[in-house]
Amino acid sequence: MFQSSEIYGGMNGFWDYGPLGVELKRNVKNAWWQDMCAGHNELIQLEGAPSTFEMVGLDCTILMHPQVWKCSGHYDLFHDFMVDCRESKKRYRFDQVRGRWVSAKSQRIFVTTMVEADTEVEETQRKAQKFFNLRAKDVDQLVWESGFVSLDKLTPEEHAVTLAPDANTLGTFTAPREFNLMFKTYVGALSGEEGAAFLRPETAQGIFVNFKNVLDSTRVKIPFGVAQIGKSFRNEITPRNFTFRSREFEQMEIEFFCNPTESPGWYTYWRNRRMQWYRDLGLSDKRLRLREHHADELSHYSCGTADIEYAFPFLAEGEYGELEGIAHRGDFDLRSHMEGKLDPKKRPLELERTEDGQPKHRGSGRDLTYRDDLTNERYTPHVIEPSAGADRAMLAFLCEAYTEDEAPDEDGKMQTRVVMRLHPRIAPIKAAVFPLVKKDGMPELAQKIYGDLKKHMNVFYDEKGAVGRRYRRQDEAGTPYCITVDGQSLVDGTVTVRDRDTLVQTRISVSELTQEIKTRIGS
Ligand code: GAP
Repeated sequence: MFQSSEIYGGMNGFWDYGPLGVELKRNVKNAWWQDMCAGHNELIQLEGAPSTFEMVGLDCTILMHPQVWKCSGHYDLFHDFMVDCRESKKRYRFDQVRGRWVSAKSQRIFVTTMVEADTEVEETQRKAQKFFNLRAKDVDQLVWESGFVSLDKLTPEEHAVTLAPDANTLGTFTAPREFNLMFKTYVGALSGEEGAAFLRPETAQGIFVNFKNVLDSTRVKIPFGVAQIGKSFRNEITPRNFTFRSREFEQMEIEFFCNPTESPGWYTYWRNRRMQWYRDLGLSDKRLRLREHHADELSHYSCGTADIEYAFPFLAEGEYGELEGIAHRGDFDLRSHMEGKLDPKKRPLELERTEDGQPKHRGSGRDLTYRDDLTNERYTPHVIEPSAGADRAMLAFLCEAYTEDEAPDEDGKMQTRVVMRLHPRIAPIKAAVFPLVKKDGMPELAQKIYGDLKKHMNVFYDEKGAVGRRYRRQDEAGTPYCITVDGQSLVDGTVTVRDRDTLVQTRISVSELTQEIKTRIGS
């Protein structure tokens, strides 16, 4: 992965995927699509599911009618709090600035930093030492209070003695202000507010506004789910931790429509099913957890949310980062898009509020209720939404896969090797093909095998250098199998297949090779 526009100094919060990265991310998305949508068989009663159900897909646009974002609540409510530093002119997300209390020379101050968790202790120490003008031998005069806390937990009075991350004087933070996270653009030749539109901050709304289209153009019946993978954009105040929090990212979202009476059961079902998906692709229970949100954490639409979280190695000890949220959205979205009539004479972006200050939604006025053919019951479906980030899932799989172990080199001596233990389904390269030496007809047979396998999967051909070094390069790329053509291959038509994790080599007939590798990678 490379920083976007790197030769021009890069752009904070934007990342490009290189030749291996693009394969890995595509495999993650394909596995999700296959397991959640295309490969879903509605005729099978799934374990733990209240009843059988269908899954269909959608691919919606990034720019949508601005009214969508008013009705979804994003126009009025999708914001973070930010603070500016009057000295450094830098802007920070209020809850992301962390610091700790320290006293010296009869003064107590709160020293903050934005560095990664593993260096924040040293960084706050360095800043405090500089602020109090202490020499290295006098650092014992600094009396630290235990633990880091985030800036948003401080009282307004305490802000006056806060040292901002890039400031030298105290109390330079402004009061926190709301900052809407949607990127704004202009559609067509209209440059004023009339042409204003937003890059979608989630793919979900495309599914809600197409609910009737899906019902009318297919034969799906409730319960059913609609899946979508696509780019979303958020103008994050402080993008950080590599691709974990970026400004352009991809989501893999399901909106699952069900009868309100069955929604609690489906909520539990999807939480368990999505946890199992990450386990099946290699995340260990040691680093994975399911966390139910407290009532005060719930989004404006949610009446219950659980996060699937992962203990990313760049976070502080004991901290977890969100991989996916599974939200019980009730009928909030369908109802919002249905209520009221949109008055075409009114400018859609005008902020309307009710008397008590709540945003007033003016939906499409379309009927988005559902009528059950069998019972004749009519209702607004409830929605369970498993919403995952493709970039975050990929980052977790990368972190989990990175291993250093010992393996013998060419001379049989044990050496440390870096190996990416990626699940074969998501590994960027499925197999590498090597001729043991570059002569005696071995390259020709190896190229033939490479050509045959290439029709089925992403394979790599390498004939340069010692075979041990070629194995190591593939271990670092996470390639699960290395196929070597040797002298015996030319005699009996077999090759060796080396397993990345066990290092075991087995001889397999060339005629059975494609099927064998396909079986091993589970495709
Ligand atoms: N439709 C619901 C929704 O969008 P969310 O929790 O805001 O919910 C869902 O986002 C997932 O999208 C997150 O769990 C995360 O994996 C991913 N995501 C959200 N913001 C992100 C960002 N700035 N960078 C990378 N991934 C992000």
